Amino acid sequence: MAGTSVKQLTEDQARAELARLAEALAAANRAYHTLDAPEISDAEYDALKQRNAAIEARFPALKRADSPSDKVGAAVADGFGKVAHSVRMLSLENAFEDGDIGDFEDRVRKYLNSSGALAFTAEPKIDGLSLSLRYEGGVLVQAATRGDGEVGENVTENARTIGDIPQRLTGAPDVLEVRGEVYMSHDDFAALNARQAAAGGKTFANPRNAAAGSLRQLDASITAARPLRFFAYSWGALSEPLAATQYEAIARLAALGFQTNPLTRLCDGPEEMLAHYRAIEAQRATLGYDIDGVVYKVNDLGLQARLGFRSATPRWAIAHKFPAELAWTTLLGIDIQVGRTGALSPVARLQPVTVGGVVVSNATLHNEDYIAGRDAKGQEIRGGRDFRIGDWVQVYRAGDVIPKLADVDLSRRDSGSQPYVFPHECPECGSPALREEGDAVRRCSGGLICPAQAVERLKHFVSRHAFDIEGLGAKQVEMFFRDADLPVKTPADIFTLAERDAANGLKRLKNRDGFGETSARKLFAAIEDRRRIGLDRLIFALGIRHVGEVAAQLLARHYSTWETFEAAVTHAAPGNEPWAELLAIDGVGKTLAESLTAAFQNEAERAAIDALVAQLQVQPVVWKAATDSPVAGKTVVFTGTLEKMTRAEAKARAEALGAKVAGSVSAKTDILVAGPGAGSKLKEAAKHGVTTLDEDGWLALIEGA
Ligand code: IVH
Repeated sequence: MAGTSVKQLTEDQARAELARLAEALAAANRAYHTLDAPEISDAEYDALKQRNAAIEARFPALKRADSPSDKVGAAVADGFGKVAHSVRMLSLENAFEDGDIGDFEDRVRKYLNSSGALAFTAEPKIDGLSLSLRYEGGVLVQAATRGDGEVGENVTENARTIGDIPQRLTGAPDVLEVRGEVYMSHDDFAALNARQAAAGGKTFANPRNAAAGSLRQLDASITAARPLRFFAYSWGALSEPLAATQYEAIARLAALGFQTNPLTRLCDGPEEMLAHYRAIEAQRATLGYDIDGVVYKVNDLGLQARLGFRSATPRWAIAHKFPAELAWTTLLGIDIQVGRTGALSPVARLQPVTVGGVVVSNATLHNEDYIAGRDAKGQEIRGGRDFRIGDWVQVYRAGDVIPKLADVDLSRRDSGSQPYVFPHECPECGSPALREEGDAVRRCSGGLICPAQAVERLKHFVSRHAFDIEGLGAKQVEMFFRDADLPVKTPADIFTLAERDAANGLKRLKNRDGFGETSARKLFAAIEDRRRIGLDRLIFALGIRHVGEVAAQLLARHYSTWETFEAAVTHAAPGNEPWAELLAIDGVGKTLAESLTAAFQNEAERAAIDALVAQLQVQPVVWKAATDSPVAGKTVVFTGTLEKMTRAEAKARAEALGAKVAGSVSAKTDILVAGPGAGSKLKEAAKHGVTTLDEDGWLALIEGA
């Protein structure tokens, strides 16, 4: 019956066939997720889905309640709903040396302008994956992974199966988001791997992977069978404060029924913090679960609030990582990869070796100087020892970081070995690879004619923080880039895909392996959906060197519309008004401005940008301010000495209230806050009729906001 054409099926046969297909597809999903080892190819999977859809189309009444058509197709990982975090889930700044901890304390003190007592908590950094649990009225209503920090995956049903996670709380704030780490113990990990191996399934490389793979299961019954644990160490949204200090807040979470780490200590400064670090490090091997460092947090929650956040990390915490793990192996070869901005990156190909539980066969070599044993300034590193193919080399790995080649054993070097010669031509397109003065990196000068740059730019273009087109990821971009029937060579080509496909007759996407009617239609719909795009995303998506996400946002907020932005960067040149305006944006420096204007003023680049924008409706960015604050949307400049707060704190507070903080005064400035010692900016403000306040006047203005 499986082979019978859909047209010839009787109703009874169709019903049985739908049941068979539902089961086969569910099994395929399970194999994909549980064992990370698909039993059938993507194409076979799609064929089953297509047959299922065809039968349902012929016999609509037979469609099952659990029909596979209602589940998202190939991208099984997209099966989770998305959850927007009401308070972002951040990561931590890293420290590697003892000295960094004193520096951390100094920075905190400087920011707070404080010389009094300053206490910190110190606790193990658990090597798992973070999870946010939302309780309303004491009931667990949602669990979400971190995702990109703003949007995570809804894993509520899975989290409910974890014994350490309470379903109900007594005496908790009405709204409470508890954050912590899901992990697997060493014993449970070993037992799980043994079970997997016995069942002929895939084993996991380390407990972290096992925990992540187990939590992110579409079928919660699989998660339930996996021995996951949870430590609470932080929180998100709260309807009322948990406590006045970090230490007491954690104690409160423990009292509510959460597991909190027993090695959490209160320390009165760097000396005690480092002592506790050593104590934790000494117990590391016998804890029974993986940790990769110690996290220090400012204890006073009022001070934490004042310190606030940088773009992705809090100022009030730092992760002190344990030294990396090392291993020795043979350097088999050096490959050169060409990146989005043309950078030639050398990658070491290694005889596979286990480093800290993970098999490593590639490692980064940074750049040509690093291979030669020099730093960017020409000073010797590693005692000037270079890396040569065939050498016995030391690999090191720290946490999730890409493995690096750290050193070489000269006593084992082959006498006939030759120094490595770094290519001066792009291995992908043959264009000269040039090294600008002061740049550690050699770059392909081919620009868009270099296929490697073009494809990497496309990958960036569709990435999560750029156009984020569902069904069009790095893999599909690679495919379309090399496709003869439906090529995508530039971002604009993405938006003509559907139209070009319609003219392709038998070679249409829906008839291809790995695609089908539904997946092709979904892809085109997802692309169509992205014709409307925010200016900030568009600027970031262009992949211009030095223009990252933060810069793209600053630019979009400042210029607001594509037309204004485009006119400004097309005409800006050192010395003129648009150039001065561009550089006056706080956070925009000369390097960024040069790179941005060069891109817009280069003919080929410009043609590609124009062709793209012709396909889009660019949405202006409206300054999303705390609109109820008296300074929302205002442009503020600080000058002179501030006495009640540091410049950094003043700036962060102003921004939190929706103001834009600029570096210099212009006709667009609304408020100049001038402390003692203010100079030329005062005159400039008077010239433009800008409101000028002293520090107290500013504080009075924002008081209570
Ligand atoms: S505090 C606002 N404490 O490490 C910062 N994080 O590298 C909240 N992690 O994303 C995090 N143990 O997943 C904190 N004791 C601990 C932690 C911890 C592990 C993870 C967490 C975070 C990542 C940053």
